[in-house]
Parts: sequence; C-alpha cells; structure tokens
Amino acid sequence: MTTTPWSSRFEEGLHPAIAAFNASIGFDIELIEYDLTGSVAHAQMLAHTGILSAAEAEAIVTGLEQIRSEWRSGQFLPAIDQEDVHFAVERRLVAIVGEVGKKLHTARSRNDQVNTDLRLWQRARIDAIAERLLDFERVLLDLAKAHVETLIPGYTHLQRAQPVSLAHHLLAYVEMAERDRSRLEEVRARTNICPLGSGALAGTVLPIDRHYTARLLGFAGVSENSLDAVSDRDFAVEFLAALSLIAVHLSRLAEEMVLWASQEFRFVLLTDRCATGSSLMPQKKNPDVPELVRGKSGRVFGHLLAMLTTLKGLPLAYNKDLQEDKEALFDAARTIEASVEAMTILMREGIDFQSDRLSAAVGEDFSNATDAADYLVRRGVPFRSAYGIIGAVVKHCLGAGLLLRELPIDEWQRFHPAFEADLYAAIAPETVVAARNSYGGTGFEQVRAALARAEARLQAA
Ligand code: ARG
Repeated sequence: MTTTPWSSRFEEGLHPAIAAFNASIGFDIELIEYDLTGSVAHAQMLAHTGILSAAEAEAIVTGLEQIRSEWRSGQFLPAIDQEDVHFAVERRLVAIVGEVGKKLHTARSRNDQVNTDLRLWQRARIDAIAERLLDFERVLLDLAKAHVETLIPGYTHLQRAQPVSLAHHLLAYVEMAERDRSRLEEVRARTNICPLGSGALAGTVLPIDRHYTARLLGFAGVSENSLDAVSDRDFAVEFLAALSLIAVHLSRLAEEMVLWASQEFRFVLLTDRCATGSSLMPQKKNPDVPELVRGKSGRVFGHLLAMLTTLKGLPLAYNKDLQEDKEALFDAARTIEASVEAMTILMREGIDFQSDRLSAAVGEDFSNATDAADYLVRRGVPFRSAYGIIGAVVKHCLGAGLLLRELPIDEWQRFHPAFEADLYAAIAPETVVAARNSYGGTGFEQVRAALARAEARLQAA
C-alpha cells in the first residue's frame, strides 16, 4: 500500500485507478522549479520568525536545492504514486535531510502552496511571452521599414477598397501586439500577489510573516482574504483571455498569409524554410505554418472557456476541481509561445513580397474611385453629388472595359466640366496613398511618423 502524508487517517489504500485519476504529478511537475523556490522562501520565513531554527531552515533549503539539481540533471523523476509535485518534493526532501524535512510544511497547506506555485509560473510565462511578442514586433517593424512605398490593395469585405502602404498594413499588427503586451502587463500585476500564508482556507495559528515571504519571492504584495486567496483563479482566466486575444491576432495575420500565398493573390511567395510539400501533388508548396497558427487558436479559446466553466459553480474555498486549471494553462502558454515564435520566423524569412504583383494589383482596379470623387469635392462639388457622378463613370468604364485612368479627358468632362488633365495624376495609386495624410492614415508621411513612434516604443520596452 502506497503511503501518502495523509495515510494515517485511512484504513485501506487507494484503488490504483483512483490513485491515477486523482494524481496530478503527470502534469504539475511543470511547476517543480516554482514549488522549490516557494518552499525555500517559506523555510526562510519560518526561520526569520523563529518558528524554525536557523539550522533547521538551512538544512531544508540545502535539501531543496539538491532536489533542484537532481531535477535539472534528470535524476529526479517522481512516479505516479506521488500524487502531486508538492508531495513528491516533500517526500524526496525527507529522504535527503531526514526528520527535519517534515518541518517544511509547517504553517502551510497545499492549497496556498499550489496557488503560489501557479502565480510564480504564470509570472515567468508572461515575461517570456512578452519577450517573444517584442521580437515579433521588431520583425514586423523591420519589414514595414522596407515597404513604406510598396503599395498593396486595401480591402473591406475582402473587396478592393483603397490602396494602402504595405508598411501601414504591417504596422496594424504591431499595434495589436502592443496592446497584447500591455494586456499581459496588466495581468502580471494581478498575478504578482502572494497567497502563501493563507493556509488551507482560514490562515494559521503560527506567527508567520507573510510580507517577508512575499518579498523573497518578488511578489508586489500579499492577498487580503485567505478564503479568496486559496480559491481564486481569476489571474489564470485573465491570462487565458490575454492569450486568446494574442491567438486572434496571430490567426488573422496567418489567414492573410495563407490568402496572399495563394495563386489567386500571389502577393507573397513562401520560402522553402517555412513551407512544406504534398505527399501526392508534386507542384504543391503549402503554408502549413500560418495554417497551424490559425488552427491552434481554437485550443487556446477552448482552455479559456474550460477554466471559466470549472470555476463558475465552486463553493468557497479550495475544491479539487481546481486541479483542472493546470493542463489548460500549461497548454495555452506553450501553444502561444510556439505560435508567436513561428509567426516571427515566418514574417522574417518565410515570405517574399512580390512587388510586381502588388504594383500591378493596385493599378488594375477601381480603388481610386473615392479619389476621383474627392477631386470634384476639392472643386466645390458636394461629396454626395460627386459620389453619384463617379458611380456613373465607374458604370460606364465597366461597360467599356476601361480603367478610370484609361478614360479620355473629354469623356470625363461629359460627366462633369470640372475634370481637367491633372485628374490623372490625382488618381494615380501613389498620389492616392500619399494623400491620406490624416493622423493614423496610410499617407507616406503618416506612415513614416507611425514607424518612428513604434520604433521609439519598442526601444523603450
Ligand atoms: N494537486 C492539487 C491541485 O493541483 C494540489 C492541492 C491539493 N489540495 C488538496 N486539498 N487536496 O489542486
């Protein structure tokens, strides 16, 4: 019969299938470094408050650090009968340091311990993902710098609308990533609160110093209510929500790359480093990377909904349901970290913009129609009337198989006498883009200013 720290109250051992069902060691081993760090701080606090002697705490800390090196060198591999990472560490500690190891869990419960571990883990993941987002933004910014004057069709309803600077299009994703980073920062602030010292649910009779432990662990403060502290997973929900939005943004960019790499668009060519072939069709080159990023977003959204559902019916305080938080969190963080990295590589070396295709595209449509109307507006025609006139010109051109720039000036003048030869320059793609010089618009001057602002932000980050 496997003994656990709680065995003394029981007569019989656990059914093996139930032991496996109950155990979290198979996945919560991911918390081990944070569990060790939390325990070291807890032991130091116990010595600081005189609950343990300095020698006892030192023995415990030395033992914990030995477990850390055993873990790092692959020697510490707890089996399924250890229930969870917290028991596994405690048992190994007692094996290493003897009786004194049994003092580590003084004034502590796994309920406040696991919440502390999770917060430390999440804080580290937030920092790592924010760092990856920064790399992603830097790559987009470099790409944007090279393409201020590259024009690309801008769409609404996936119908050609108005041409834009390619840099402007790329900078849109930099804005999204910036918001994603600041969202993570806000989640970090609420994550960085120490629940340790809340005990199982009600606090402890021992004279602990919660602020001391919190400081050692780099937390910005301590939780206010022990019942709330051990059952709160808001921080995890917020993290999953922030990750979900990152997934949304990556997925939109991924979708555009899939689209742009198609024969129908051919705005980008996939390089060999980031594309894959087909098992059957020799001509294929597939955009697996953006497709996977698009596909993985669903997993992350699923974890968010799973976490909310797990929490919504729980009475205070800790319930074992909460053990379900971990796989969702771990998988979501792993998925997003890998997706940001993959998209960073894709944007850096996985695609080649096809400038000939892009410039041909912006010259071959009616996306300068708004500008023909604005030409009349500048000559005193009310916008709604100008809109009507250009609508009629477009209809005429579609019937005649002509583009706006191909319609002779005398024909233009039949629609309105204010049209003159300078019209052609006014509706050329470069002019049209340059003219959208309102703050935040695609005009080259605006895009250069936006690039400078984005660069300054990234340098300060
Ligand atoms: N493995 C548990 C979890 O992840 C640790 C906390 C267990 N606490 C308890 N009272 N059984 O939630």
